[in-house]
Amino acid sequence: MTQVVTAPAIRARKGSGEPLVMVTAYDAPGARIADEAGVDMILVGDSLAMVVLGYEDTLSVTVDDMAHHVAAVARAKPRPMVIADLPWMSYHVSVEDTVRNAARLIRAGAQAVKLEGGRKRVPMIGALLDAEIPVMGHVGLTPQSVHAMGGFKVQGKEVAAATELVADAEAIVSSGCFSIVLEGVPDRVAQMITEAVPVPTVGIGAGRWCDGQVLVFHDLLGLEDRVLPKFVRRYASLKADAVTAMTAYANDVRTGRFPSDDESYHLSSEVARRLLADDELAVGLYGSRR
Ligand code: KIV
Repeated sequence: MTQVVTAPAIRARKGSGEPLVMVTAYDAPGARIADEAGVDMILVGDSLAMVVLGYEDTLSVTVDDMAHHVAAVARAKPRPMVIADLPWMSYHVSVEDTVRNAARLIRAGAQAVKLEGGRKRVPMIGALLDAEIPVMGHVGLTPQSVHAMGGFKVQGKEVAAATELVADAEAIVSSGCFSIVLEGVPDRVAQMITEAVPVPTVGIGAGRWCDGQVLVFHDLLGLEDRVLPKFVRRYASLKADAVTAMTAYANDVRTGRFPSDDESYHLSSEVARRLLADDELAVGLYGSRR
């Protein structure tokens, strides 16, 4: 069996000089693509809500939704480490709730969970680690705080805010996160955090000085083409390719070019002769003579 990537292995990559690669995926085909591309980590992100389930933000996605998609990813048995996002309100009420909800995602096939927020999450992170669940942190633009932030806005742009972000990152790392995502922060702030913490930082919209990068599957492959945030680089145009392919299929069906003889099943000549020679039987079978 191929060795899977583990939380200690990711943690040990700090300072290795080899950037970590993470990508989101939400189902088995996506996990297979990420695996064959050789990424280090697959994040079953709560971006599921927006890129797969059609919601406007990530707040509607539930632990049930996440578990369903984590299980689909895990069934592909990918070599990259599978990390599951704890959705909004699954870790905000109590440490007991947090551990119970995280356990559902681990049982669905994740090897670690990710949660958003800084110092106020320290008790939850401690409880998860006590339950032997590795935790990835996430600070900066935390999409579950969209209303509190007043929109999806870059964070840490002023001195005080940047200092708070560094303190938040240090606090969650001190409580045991094996890695942290830095989202939507100025590159120099991401660099400060990366230099301040002893675990790998994985950036999205956080510049080049992070220890690794993450992109959302649908953004990097161009399956989502309605918006193009500044930090996204599109490596393919799968939505456009898919529309072109499906249009060709529709044309072929409508013009009788699909299916061809080669794409059809055929009777043996003997059966065809007996069956089709019997005019009465043909009428019975097809309702009319063919
Ligand atoms: O849900 C997600 O896709 C994420 C990434 C943007 C880091 O949290």
